[in-house]
Amino acid sequence: MAKKPATRKSIPKTKKAAAPTKPWGGRFIEATNALVEEFTASIPYDWRLYPYDIAGSIAHAAMLGATGIISKAESRKIIRGLEEILRDIAANTFKFSVELEDIHMNIEHRLIQKIGPVGGKLHTARSRNDQVSLDIRMYLRDEISEIHRLLGTLQQVIVKLAEQYQDVVIPGYTHLQRAQPVLFGHHLLAYYEMFDRDRERLQDCFGRVNRMPLGAGALAGTVLPIDRLFVAKQLGFEALCENSIDAVSDRDFAIEFTSACAQIMMHLSRLSEELVIWSTAEFGFITIADAYTTGSSIMPQKKNPDVAELTRGKTGRVYGSLMTLLTIMKGLPLAYNRDMQEDKEPLFDAADTVTLTLPVVAGMLSTMTVHRDRMRMAAEDGFITATDLADYLVRKGLPFRQAHEIVGKAVLRATEIECGLGNMPLAEYRALSPLIRDDVYEALSLEASVGRRSSSGGTAPANLKKRLQALKKKMR
Ligand code: ARG
Repeated sequence: MAKKPATRKSIPKTKKAAAPTKPWGGRFIEATNALVEEFTASIPYDWRLYPYDIAGSIAHAAMLGATGIISKAESRKIIRGLEEILRDIAANTFKFSVELEDIHMNIEHRLIQKIGPVGGKLHTARSRNDQVSLDIRMYLRDEISEIHRLLGTLQQVIVKLAEQYQDVVIPGYTHLQRAQPVLFGHHLLAYYEMFDRDRERLQDCFGRVNRMPLGAGALAGTVLPIDRLFVAKQLGFEALCENSIDAVSDRDFAIEFTSACAQIMMHLSRLSEELVIWSTAEFGFITIADAYTTGSSIMPQKKNPDVAELTRGKTGRVYGSLMTLLTIMKGLPLAYNRDMQEDKEPLFDAADTVTLTLPVVAGMLSTMTVHRDRMRMAAEDGFITATDLADYLVRKGLPFRQAHEIVGKAVLRATEIECGLGNMPLAEYRALSPLIRDDVYEALSLEASVGRRSSSGGTAPANLKKRLQALKKKMR
């Protein structure tokens, strides 16, 4: 039987630990109800924060030693113990326990087991409230950097495709009705812009994530002579959270991050929707590679664009996470409330979904086959250059509204005599407007249509070429 692979999302299998005493047990007589233990525990999911929790604790312990709040020897002992715990968890030999609620208490408890009562000094001038905020911020810094990188890779794929099919004309659509011819590369680069804004959003969000909350304590700060800047520097934080109450109760940064994820997914979903449409027999613009499609268990001929569809579907999960976070926070009085523990699963799920989806979509794009002939054929629709005919009349001095009217009549007439605008006899044209001469046919070609749209940001080949050059230089 195939062994289920261990993922970083599942809690490592361990033997059940002997019931540990809770770090907060002092004022309690009765034991916690077993179901309540399960209900209140976050360890089944927050164990993932362990590298950040430990790095944060090491920095805190170093600061306690440097400021003389604890002795240098004590600080060193604590740090060595924490480093050992880090290795234990990475090696899967750490026993996580639900009775110890969360990652913070699991680690602290183990530290005291390992190095004795001196381990109890680690939590000096600290609370789980500022600790958890620190952990999430450190986790998000990594996720933001990774997503930022993955977006860059996707952009590279897009630029490469746009360059490869630079000369291919497709119908541009509005209302999913053929509207005006555009270059396929120009269409693709629209997604480049979306993903660029996504990267900017993440970068912007990073600045607000990258503030150091430790030192807030439970909510009011501490009486001890701590050095917050020392900790911030050691952990690479740009600035401090300036208000202790805000430091422990703010989750704006998590909401912002999830909102950025939601927009990334929205963009990926729009792209996926196009790939689904383009890969139909009706469109036939692209074929998605076998490696990125799946078959049907009943219809042998089917090759389904499931990756694109799931990308669309997974967008819903990330929107859900955003709504969850917003809703968790909306009724909370200052400062920390336990409700906030519910922030982790949606946050992790949003980040996991985005980091999984981005490379899959990049792979699907880079391996798909583009059918330039089918694209061209669709663009050769008889009326797609109607706007060009109006522009032609405008160039001859007619006000646009009158030109629009004449072209409308031309379309009507062409439909009657069953031809397109590009091959309607000149006599028919001249009956509608004497301004039309035989140079009209050149003006109505696809090449002329895209070629003339050279306003800045327009679809003209010269623009695309320039833009591609600039983007390639930027990405180098
Ligand atoms: N597991 C908690 C969370 O994720 C940590 C903070 C708990 N603080 C407390 N005072 N109960 O939010």
